[in-house]
Amino acid sequence: TELAQIRNFSIVAHIDHGKSTLADRLIQMTGTVAERDMKAQLLDSMDIERERGITIKANTVRIDYPAKDGKTYVLNLIDTPGHVDFAYEVSRSMRAVEGSLLVVDASQGVEAQTLANVYQAIDAGHDIVPVLNKIDLPAADPDRVKEQIEDVIGIDASDAIPISAKSGLGIPDVLEAIVQRLPAPKGDRDAPLKAMLVDSWYDAYLGVVVMIRVIDGVIRKGDRIRMIATNATYGVDRLAVLRPQMVDWPELGPGEIGVFTASIKQVRDTRVGDTITHERRPCAEALPGFKPAQPVVFCGLFPVDAADFEALRDAIEKLALNDASFTYEMETSAALGFGFRCGFLGLLHLEVVRERLEREFDLDLITTAPSVVYHIFMRDGTMQELHNPADMPDLTYVDHIEEPRIKATIMVPDEYLGDILKLCQDRRGIQLNLTYAGSRAMVEYDLPLNEVVFDFYDRLKSVTKGYASFDYTLTDYREDNLVKMQILVNDEPVDALSMMVHRDRAESRGRQMCEKLKDLIPRHMFKIPIQAAIGGRVIARETISAMRKDVTAKCYGGDATRKRKLLDKQKEGKKRMRQFGKVEIPQTAFISALKMD
Ligand code: GTP
Repeated sequence: TELAQIRNFSIVAHIDHGKSTLADRLIQMTGTVAERDMKAQLLDSMDIERERGITIKANTVRIDYPAKDGKTYVLNLIDTPGHVDFAYEVSRSMRAVEGSLLVVDASQGVEAQTLANVYQAIDAGHDIVPVLNKIDLPAADPDRVKEQIEDVIGIDASDAIPISAKSGLGIPDVLEAIVQRLPAPKGDRDAPLKAMLVDSWYDAYLGVVVMIRVIDGVIRKGDRIRMIATNATYGVDRLAVLRPQMVDWPELGPGEIGVFTASIKQVRDTRVGDTITHERRPCAEALPGFKPAQPVVFCGLFPVDAADFEALRDAIEKLALNDASFTYEMETSAALGFGFRCGFLGLLHLEVVRERLEREFDLDLITTAPSVVYHIFMRDGTMQELHNPADMPDLTYVDHIEEPRIKATIMVPDEYLGDILKLCQDRRGIQLNLTYAGSRAMVEYDLPLNEVVFDFYDRLKSVTKGYASFDYTLTDYREDNLVKMQILVNDEPVDALSMMVHRDRAESRGRQMCEKLKDLIPRHMFKIPIQAAIGGRVIARETISAMRKDVTAKCYGGDATRKRKLLDKQKEGKKRMRQFGKVEIPQTAFISALKMD
């Protein structure tokens, strides 16, 4: 395809402003997918994405569009996630395209992630076309939102396109604007091959699939290629474009986006951001590459059944290929046996990974208390990174501890501002800035990340009835008075529930944890004390009273099948429990116990 007839773009938006719906309409109106194959949120291919209505992975589709000027254009759309935890996917996809549609809900206006995502697009040098969605809603106020885009984001919104992605109104204007207002890619067809590895994933049938954006040169089926960072060489088995399913394609030239398979066995050989070139005639310089993702939350993942460890290893390796932002290394725990210590970009990311492991690979997992990364400065002048509170060194060797801080941007309607300020204050926040845009306040806070990772987002949503939006960036590490709190169940410390807390908050946190665990751990035949302790000192305590539980007692004598059924059912319930000394703790307790009220 001629460069002048290609447009590569992404759609940036705050969550729920209609990005996926718009993508569906663009695909549908251009006949890219036959009407009978059309289903809502076509690009959200994972079950979890459909169920939760969120986009997690960036997805891609190639659209043929006959424009009003009589020429047919190739439009490559990369759909990107909107949630703060997936910002890394966003920045990556942005580097592969030249322009963005900025979708803003005309009834809601600019939100925190609108800002975060559009700034990434601006950083990537994109041309931006603002689109005002949901103008079918009675509450839509396109003129006010236009003004807001200009005031808050600082880009021209006079040509913003009013649409309803739901009804299809305005979609033809969007297609024309992509062609008229976004730039064509640049590149040299005769130069040596230079392509960017944008994404890669594991497909159960095809193996490793690699998505590329060609910068210069041409890639064809059968070519011998080299990945510059890993220095691995392959033969291209299959070359295809995404519509959004794979359709075999003879060649991809400059500006084009597509995928290939190459019998890649080592998942580590595909590094996102790597440069792909021909083995025989390589390009002179590699692309700058992407900044590796920095996991900020760590937790342990263990199989409920120790025999599933190898299956878990296999599943984690496959998933890691699909998600470059998640890290893992093997871990052993006295109570939980063999498992993995995994790093995530946030708590939603953690939940999504856990859910995918359980569903797609049919595993039962225990998740230990999530923790941020602390910097432990030792008396001997060295520094250790602490990923797991269980590894906290003996305090006599510790000089001081630093924790990660963030700058949080929260946008919220006036009437909830007081609740937000209180929430941030309770979480050891320092207010930095407070401004107004219309009836919405934009407030910036300096907060410890450890106060945010567990349930800040949930709390924010619930105190503002869903009207607040939130985004953050890591700023620095700072010293504070932090201690390790241990939880003892039946007098045995449960490492998986150890956590770092601020000393001033340790007591209330300990009390909360004990109360929660009292409700989460079922009664046993004996009394179970639950204690929170710092060093050797107990700071909170609860007791679960004993009970007698004989499920078969009720079915007197005869009916053996009924008895068997009941026992099986009880066994099933046990599957998601874990034995700690004499006590069984349900899997859900490990995360639920950490949520604060
Ligand atoms: P993420 O993928 O999670 O980032 O969300 P999204 O921005 O893709 O939002 P999505 O397309 O899933 O739309 C969110 C909700 O808004 C859905 O319930 C849509 O049906 C609805 N919606 C989208 N466009 C319109 C519109 O033009 N009008 C109305 N009334 N509702 C719309």
